[in-house]
Amino acid sequence: MSFTPIEDILDGRHEGEHIDMRGWVYRKRESKDTIFLVIRDATSIIQCTVKKDSSAWTDAKKVTIESSIALGGTVRSDRRAPGGFEVSTDQLKIIGLAEVFPITRDQSIEFLRDVRHLWLRSQKMGAIMKVRSEVLKFIHGFFRKRGFVEVSPPMFISSACEGGATLFGLKYFDKDLYLTQSAQLHLEALIYSLEKVYCVAPSFRAEKSRTIRHLTEYWHVEAEQAFTTMEDMMLLQEHLVSHVCQCVAAQCKKELESLGVDAEKLARTETPFGRTTYQEAIERLHKKGFKIKWGEDFGFNEERALAEEFGGPVFVYAYPKEIKAFYCKTYRENPELAMSVDLIVPRIGELTTGGARVDDKDELIERLEEFGLRREDYDWYIDLRKYGTVPHAGFGLGVERLLAWMLHLENVMDTIPFPRTLRRFYP
Ligand code: 4AD
Ligand code: MG
Repeated sequence: MSFTPIEDILDGRHEGEHIDMRGWVYRKRESKDTIFLVIRDATSIIQCTVKKDSSAWTDAKKVTIESSIALGGTVRSDRRAPGGFEVSTDQLKIIGLAEVFPITRDQSIEFLRDVRHLWLRSQKMGAIMKVRSEVLKFIHGFFRKRGFVEVSPPMFISSACEGGATLFGLKYFDKDLYLTQSAQLHLEALIYSLEKVYCVAPSFRAEKSRTIRHLTEYWHVEAEQAFTTMEDMMLLQEHLVSHVCQCVAAQCKKELESLGVDAEKLARTETPFGRTTYQEAIERLHKKGFKIKWGEDFGFNEERALAEEFGGPVFVYAYPKEIKAFYCKTYRENPELAMSVDLIVPRIGELTTGGARVDDKDELIERLEEFGLRREDYDWYIDLRKYGTVPHAGFGLGVERLLAWMLHLENVMDTIPFPRTLRRFYP
């Protein structure tokens, strides 16, 4: 038996035909001689009517919200029905009768996150998950078209990439290991054979802060390229972000509409993005009344203020080296500054961090010492500078931040099916 997806019915291809469909009861309303069922499947929702004289009536009476059903009926166009079509039902089979569904209207965001396993059925979460899938597809397409090779980095690691403060430790048999914070160091090893590599993989951060943009487990898009500069990587990043925005605007129209996102505005995310040095950014912030001192890192408020001033994504580069990671290359003419760049966007702040990497062996050893890191933990990473070192650069982008920004969502938690934060690890 073949079942017709609701989307195809709404396309008008089956008007007047008898079809079979299946899905879940999304809404139910009864009058004296008609039961109105709104049915949803993976593609859309449609209204189905059951008349009192039909053999489907008894089961339609029994059916509860979120019950799974199969039904047969005739498609009629009806301007009053949402979507313009409805199904006059003559057969109805209950597959799984639902108990009273705990989600009703007007429930708090907190409650909806507690029952995320059920809230994923909502139209809103369904639309977000579809856009998420498309975004990942567009990201892969972007890199592959440019000759990047997708690689699979390890999740168990023995030394930190982004500092000890946010490392998750774990027992690995009788050894102490960590969950990866970034694939960067391992991607660096892979450029010596593949030159251009990227990955989309989970990263883990023991983030104690409760903010709208921090998860303890997130999906990280990272790229690394040999024989390149920070400036070239900035070009690559802005093309990636604008490509994703434009593809989503063109190909996810239905989802954007249901989420209330302006597709035309999203499509206007065009290159070049703004660019400013750390020094200039500090001056701009002082003019806005911020008290930040040179040498301090930007907080959420500073980042948002800067991006709002530019009215869109903006790169901030040339940071004091103390506030950036040990692997950042410094400017020859100004060794206090790191060739490190953050892309920041309105509302969310930092979307990516990237830059050029130290490619000189002795300089790397010096930097490890400055940061109080043990050389033996990074011997393999130092090896990369011993055997045919090359200037190279890369970046990392948080998928959830990208989605929260593009879709105007309040919190990165709503862009991932099962968010993990300091307090949330269930369901
Ligand atoms: O800025 P981060 O820490 O940079 C790195 O990890 C580099 N090693 C990346 C690289 O050069 N390959 O993380 C990169 C991005 C951030 O800009 C942010 O978008 C995201 O990862 N991110 C988080 N997203 C959600 N929750 C968190 N706790 C995140 N921490 C970082
Ligand atoms: Mg960063």
